[in-house]
Amino acid sequence: MPSQVYSRKNPFQARLTVNRPLTLPGSGKDTRHYELSLEGSGLVYECGDSMGVFCKNDPELVDDILRRLGFSGSEPVATGERPPEPVRDVLLRDCDLGLPDRKFLKAIVDRSSSAPLLASLLSPERRDDLMQFLRGQDVLDFLHQHPSTTFTPQEFVPTLRKLQPRLYSIASSRKAVGEAVHFTIGTVRYEIRKRLRKGVCSSWLAERVTPETPVPLFVHSAKGFRMPEDSSTAMIMVGPGTGVAPFRAFLQERKVCGASGKNWLFFGEQHAATDFLYGEELERYRADGILTRLDTAFSRDQAGKIYVQDRMREAAAELWHWIGGGAHVFVCGDASRMAKDVDEALHGILAEQGGLGREGAALYLEQMKKDKRYKRDVY
Ligand SMILES: Cc1cc2nc3c(=O)[nH]c(=O)nc-3n(C[C@H](O)[C@H](O)[C@H](O)COP(=O)(O)OP(=O)(O)OC[C@H]3O[C@@H](n4cnc5c(N)ncnc54)[C@H](O)[C@@H]3O)c2cc1C
Ligand SMILES: NC(=O)c1ccc[n+]([C@@H]2O[C@H](COP(=O)([O-])OP(=O)(O)OC[C@H]3O[C@@H](n4cnc5c(N)ncnc54)[C@H](OP(=O)(O)O)[C@@H]3O)[C@@H](O)[C@H]2O)c1
Repeated sequence: MPSQVYSRKNPFQARLTVNRPLTLPGSGKDTRHYELSLEGSGLVYECGDSMGVFCKNDPELVDDILRRLGFSGSEPVATGERPPEPVRDVLLRDCDLGLPDRKFLKAIVDRSSSAPLLASLLSPERRDDLMQFLRGQDVLDFLHQHPSTTFTPQEFVPTLRKLQPRLYSIASSRKAVGEAVHFTIGTVRYEIRKRLRKGVCSSWLAERVTPETPVPLFVHSAKGFRMPEDSSTAMIMVGPGTGVAPFRAFLQERKVCGASGKNWLFFGEQHAATDFLYGEELERYRADGILTRLDTAFSRDQAGKIYVQDRMREAAAELWHWIGGGAHVFVCGDASRMAKDVDEALHGILAEQGGLGREGAALYLEQMKKDKRYKRDVY
């Protein structure tokens, strides 16, 4: 079937072929390498693209909600999209059971005699307080906090948001792996109020998807995060943690195409011994000369933190030499802290090494963005 047949509205049902831990025992993280077969899909993706993955909720969480609401799970619910289905199936597949929105909170307030705080937080002028209050709370938390609240299954389901697909950076080059796609995914797990919380999609993939489970996915194109058209152009890639994913794809592609452009990767994680994602593969790329330079920043292997931007500052003169020579700069991974700090470091490096001053450095980076030489994919 041609690739355009498959889309977010009509996802391809891929099959998982590999689920392998990248982090080793003793790591504080569970980051995994996944491979999925796209055989027969005709799906076309480019290095730099992501894929959207539709996932399912944790049956244990769904059963806790059913128990709290006194549902057996088999009660039929009509959603308008399909003929009525058992409420358990609908909750597993369609409903976001994480952070609730105003519709759900209002339904709690309307049905509960004990929600004056929540009622006051729903007023438009207290939007920020509400956001603060909601942090780390999910649908089950609110149901437990308001034990007198009752719903019928048909009333309950429409109060919930629709479960959305999750995006993952593609960690493979089609030219290297054929009809397959690879991902690098950190499994989200954390504890709040003595209950283990699990990221819906990352823990579905890590714990419950088998080679027999269809994994519905679609290509999410990222035209602003492409490798340079000219394969002799140098690339500087900054990808700590799962941010390394697209750069694994870039390196695969450069190798398979015999590209002459130089490649420099900055990788960071907590500990070298347990968290060097794709460590052996990256070392091989360095030995083969595909990676001209590999700089690592293991943040927790010494008393003070060392981050990728510290390694960039240490290599400032060489970085300026590459950038001045036309290299493209890519950043992928954490948006909230890392990408800002790396941006700040780049400003400093250009200001000092390029002799541009702060204003000149800002203008230079703006121009690099316009020229599609400074590209970011952060989340
Ligand atoms: C373009 C793009 C590319 C991406 N690429 C990748 C990738 O290559 N690899 C990858 O791993 N991820 C990637 N992501 C993130 C990915 O899409 C998901 O957001 C991630 O896997 C979590 O989804 P989930 O369903 O497992 O967790 P969810 O069920 O969505 O839960 C995540 C939420 O849990 C909350 N949370 C998490 N930790 C804590 C904590 N300690 N305390 C309190 N609350 C917490 C936060 O609100 C967070 O948003 C990408 C995102 C984008 C937008
Ligand atoms: N939206 C979501 O639901 C979701 C889910 C999963 C991941 N993410 C995002 O994806 C990011 C990647 O997660 P990850 O676990 O693979 O890696 P990560 O948390 O980014 O950690 C990778 C490395 O970056 C370091 N780091 C922390 N702050 C930094 C900073 N300001 N500048 C540079 N490096 C910094 C970490 O050090 P220390 O840990 O020692 O500080 C660690 O060594 C997360 O941070 C998160 O923002 C989002």
